Amino acid sequence: MALRDHFPWTQSPLIINAPMGGHAGPDLAVAVTRAGGLGQIGAVFDMAELANHLSKVESALPRHNDLLPVGVGLLPFIVKMDEALPAIEKYRPAVVWLFAAKELEDYAKCAERIRKVTPGSQIWVQVGSVAAALTIAEQCKPDAMCVQGIDAGGHGFEKGAGIVSLLPEVSDALAAAGHGSIALLASGGITEGRGAAAAFALGAQGVVMGTRFLSAPETQLHPVYRKAILAAKDGGQNTIRAKLFDELRGPNIWPLPYDGRSIVTESFTEHAGGAGIEEIRRLHAEAGKAKDGGYGLDGKGRTAMWAGTGVGLVKREQPAAEIVEEVRRQVIEVLERTRSRL
Ligand SMILES: Cc1cc2nc3c(=O)[nH]c(=O)nc-3n(C[C@H](O)[C@H](O)[C@H](O)COP(=O)(O)O)c2cc1C
Repeated sequence: MALRDHFPWTQSPLIINAPMGGHAGPDLAVAVTRAGGLGQIGAVFDMAELANHLSKVESALPRHNDLLPVGVGLLPFIVKMDEALPAIEKYRPAVVWLFAAKELEDYAKCAERIRKVTPGSQIWVQVGSVAAALTIAEQCKPDAMCVQGIDAGGHGFEKGAGIVSLLPEVSDALAAAGHGSIALLASGGITEGRGAAAAFALGAQGVVMGTRFLSAPETQLHPVYRKAILAAKDGGQNTIRAKLFDELRGPNIWPLPYDGRSIVTESFTEHAGGAGIEEIRRLHAEAGKAKDGGYGLDGKGRTAMWAGTGVGLVKREQPAAEIVEEVRRQVIEVLERTRSRL
């Protein structure tokens, strides 16, 4: 059974929005699902807010196989499962997406508790290395894994590879270890049809986009942050992975293997130029109180603006449904054009 067959409202090829905590709420999830994709909500600390978001989805969308046709993203290193499970049990989302555990064993522990309260929901885990994929496959047995390449916006493994090499190597390693039935998705730098088509050619059964959906008005985003996304070009130069972005508000709480990719900011440039962290934090806190929230264009601004290397391909504000439909159409066109060129 193909992964998409579990989600009867979806159309092929499968397009998914990343569960971006604080940004991907019910409006985005509903719009993506209505357009025939899989919409996801990102949760961070506040599980009352997650319940509120899921209740909004419930009043907007019919259930499929008794499941709410959206995914919910949880961060195992942050989430208190006792607080998250009541909402998961009550609303039964089609997918629970797990990303960033303190220890790899924690995915299996979370998954076990989720499966108990909602056996029909799929468990998806986002992974950034072959070794992590093998361990998680063995211990947690997720229904799908999203292979996250180093180009991804937001957090991911500090050490990594692009999906061009990572996805096939994960796929081969899983098959060799007897886990070939776990479906693979791709994320990291995919913003439009060409990148998405490449991901399908690599073996993905669906593509997950974060940065592209930052252009959608349904995504919760400070207007200056959105402007910076639309203005940024040449993502390999104007975004950067660094742990600094997690140290701006105080000590970094992320597990050691992780850092995050943001648009290059003054906080980053000045710290790289030798400014001490206390001074960087003070200026960051001050800037955050301004009307622009400390966000800024052209390397200005002090607040982190998570974005992937594909940001230069995101050029205009566009409703989420249009993004889903456009990328879906482009994938087919690109693959047909590619075939005819060979
Ligand atoms: C603004 C932003 C916030 C993110 N927040 C989360 C999150 O809360 N949970 C999560 O699993 N992934 C999060 N991610 C990472 C995504 O899951 C995904 O790996 C990434 O967006 C893919 O790369 P792309 O941005 O180039 O599409 C975030 C990404 C961005 C851009």
